[in-house]
Amino acid sequence: MVTSLPNSSLEASTGKKKALKENILTPRFYTTDFEKAANLDYSAQDEELQAMLAEMRADYNRHHFTRDEEFNQSWEHITGEARQAFIDYLERSCVSEFSGFLLFKELSRRLKARNPLLAEIFNLMARDEARHAGFLNKAMGDFDCAMDLGYLTKHRVYTFFPIEWVIYTVYLSEKIGYWRYIIIYRHLEKHPENQFYPLFRYFESWCQDENRHGDIFKALLRSQPKLWKTWQSRLWSRFFLLTVFATHTLTVHERAGFYRLLGLAPTEFDAEVIRKTNETAARAFPSVLNTEHPEFFKRLHCCRELNVKISEIDNSSQPKWLKALRKLPLQLSIIGHLLRIYLIKGIDAEALRGTVR
Ligand SMILES: [Fe+2]
Ligand SMILES: [Fe+2]
Repeated sequence: MVTSLPNSSLEASTGKKKALKENILTPRFYTTDFEKAANLDYSAQDEELQAMLAEMRADYNRHHFTRDEEFNQSWEHITGEARQAFIDYLERSCVSEFSGFLLFKELSRRLKARNPLLAEIFNLMARDEARHAGFLNKAMGDFDCAMDLGYLTKHRVYTFFPIEWVIYTVYLSEKIGYWRYIIIYRHLEKHPENQFYPLFRYFESWCQDENRHGDIFKALLRSQPKLWKTWQSRLWSRFFLLTVFATHTLTVHERAGFYRLLGLAPTEFDAEVIRKTNETAARAFPSVLNTEHPEFFKRLHCCRELNVKISEIDNSSQPKWLKALRKLPLQLSIIGHLLRIYLIKGIDAEALRGTVR
């Protein structure tokens, strides 16, 4: 789950109390119209959902999230910018996982009476996300900080998304999460010398949880013809792909220090995650982006450069009004680039269905 949340409600605690720097890339908490979610007819994908429930019940990762002895050592040798970049990575990942937990838990609670099948599936997804968040939180403990999840639960601020948007965005966050975890895992398999902390060894089975969660949301999406059979759904699909990819690309480059620590080139990692997620999304979405178009990564790259300038202004000591004034043309320019990417002719995934791997 990826997503944003106001700074005031986000504080890491124990040892060092620290607040996560807030910007548009900060993970968010979502809420939706639960009444509408309960009233939708999911029967078109009943068989698929039953199969997914059986997989979720099987709980393949029941014993996976147990810390082994490799964690029991000092991590003080990871210092400076690298340490900060890694803590930032852990924090945001933890909040994303936790926001998934809260959303799935609430969906489960609200659907219990009317759709026991989905209620159980959401409950089991919440189980997985709680494990993921907890595991990351323990990792943060190794670096003298931890998220105060109790505080977050009480003070969370929600962003409202209609259920249709939740289905598109959760599907994408689960699948992009899968690709992020597996690409890091496979890279470290080839370059074990870059495995600076044991967390990454857990990513192979971990990403299978995210993959299953994505498949569940794929079934939800395909159960609603208006989410893939209409011309509007084609526009929405590409819109959500673009917002998820833009957020991803800016986040990866804000955390470039962390990826370099892993021996991964941020630009290549970024592009591979985007290509793979876009390819995967063609199995669920009616239309996807054309990542091979020469303008696609070129313009995303421009957005990153502009975002670096925005961060520089943010970090300056200028008065707020002057910062806002200086940032405005840069922000408009980012929107311009994204709009031009959006207008690149998409790929008709319905026509490809059956041939896409
Ligand atoms: Fe997760
Ligand atoms: Fe997940």
